[in-house]
Amino acid sequence: MKKIQKSKAMWGGRFSAGPDKLVQEFTKSVQYDWRLYREDIFGSLAHARMLQEIGVITKGEFAAIEKGLKQIFAEIEAGVFEWDPTREDVHMNIEATLTARTPAGAKLHTGRSRNDQVATDMRLWVKQSIVTDLALITDLQAALVKLARKYQNVVIPGYTHLQRAQPVYFAHHLLAYVEMLERDFSRLADAWQRVDVLPLGSGAIAGSTIPLKRERVAQLLGFGAVTQNSLDAVSDRDFILEYAAADAILAVHLSRLAEDFVIWSTAEFGFVRIGDAFTTGSSLMPQKKNPDVAEIVRGKSGRVIGNLMSLLALVKGLPMTYNRDLQEDKERLFDTVDTVQQSLTIFASMLADVKVNAANCERAVSDPLLLATDVADWLVNKGVPFRHAHEVVGKAVAISEQTGIPLDKLPLAEWKKIHPVCDASLQKIFNVREALSRRKMTGAPGKKQVEEQLKRWEKLLK
Ligand code: ARG
Repeated sequence: MKKIQKSKAMWGGRFSAGPDKLVQEFTKSVQYDWRLYREDIFGSLAHARMLQEIGVITKGEFAAIEKGLKQIFAEIEAGVFEWDPTREDVHMNIEATLTARTPAGAKLHTGRSRNDQVATDMRLWVKQSIVTDLALITDLQAALVKLARKYQNVVIPGYTHLQRAQPVYFAHHLLAYVEMLERDFSRLADAWQRVDVLPLGSGAIAGSTIPLKRERVAQLLGFGAVTQNSLDAVSDRDFILEYAAADAILAVHLSRLAEDFVIWSTAEFGFVRIGDAFTTGSSLMPQKKNPDVAEIVRGKSGRVIGNLMSLLALVKGLPMTYNRDLQEDKERLFDTVDTVQQSLTIFASMLADVKVNAANCERAVSDPLLLATDVADWLVNKGVPFRHAHEVVGKAVAISEQTGIPLDKLPLAEWKKIHPVCDASLQKIFNVREALSRRKMTGAPGKKQVEEQLKRWEKLLK
């Protein structure tokens, strides 16, 4: 980065010397907030247009500012703009370059402070990234539904405590994540409405004596409303906290999804095979094929959780109104957004490269113990109170364990000894697919129900 001018010039007449080199190094943010250039320039263009409309700057001055800002925008996009670290942040860099090129630039900051400027830039940035998140969530949901549809007849054990519990369709398991992601979607879409409020015009803390038209700027920038309290507008960052929180919940969901794929891809489970492109080998053990992508997605949720904690702690003790601490929000937020968007993208591509091993799933689900609850339900239908039925099946399971005879092969005579109501039809319970077809209510993993859910999601995600 090239040194363009002495930094003291940026602060106006009060300062006789620029900041100490160490201070400058410590306080500058341009090395990361340059990412706000698009929002900063759009915000300035809208502000300048409004200034011209209320007669604070002339049409000629507006034209010069507009031309200069567009030029700067093009240079940044092309990677040839010279960011000057002595100019502290993105706002100063752009404004100073503009002013160096056109005298009208000196009028751009009329009625504006970096306090309402940065709040505006951040809101514009967050609005855009929420929109990107929503699209990526939808892509991942579509990838899950596609995989679920492809293996729609595969049944796996469902687990509690990571112990085999009851059979479910593999599709039902994946659709659980589609539901979770849908809540993430709606949390973010809901948060978006609270971000969609323009702070510009709040000045440093107390608005301006210049009759700015805030509603006009909001209209130009596509904000749905303007903030109603200037102190709140420059100091509040709850829209960032809320976004980071929604993204942290999303990252935790992704981590759980990743965990399932890590487990399923082990030799012990062998339910899925992740494509080579999404796994890595070991430098030592030639046989290894590690699910690194899923593991890193799981691991990255940690930093997203950490970012939320940092942001909460950052804002916690701040007195009204703006405090420079707030500059620290950017890296944490950018990191959260980059991490979550990367994770969503890579997981969706990985799912397209997953093969389900139906034979291994079938073997796992053929464990008759998975239908012990169904036997209890059968007894309930015969009039046995559930608590007794539970006891009866528990005894049968114990006998099966002691004798080594699988529960579904236990002779009828044994069942009858435990409870006289048992008859031959009890042994017909042990058919996994029939067991699933008995689960008919909304939300249950019955064949028809899963088909209906797949259709619902396919329609919704189209
Ligand atoms: N870089 C600053 C930030 O991110 C911009 C606002 C500076 N305002 C101030 N009063 N120093 O918060």
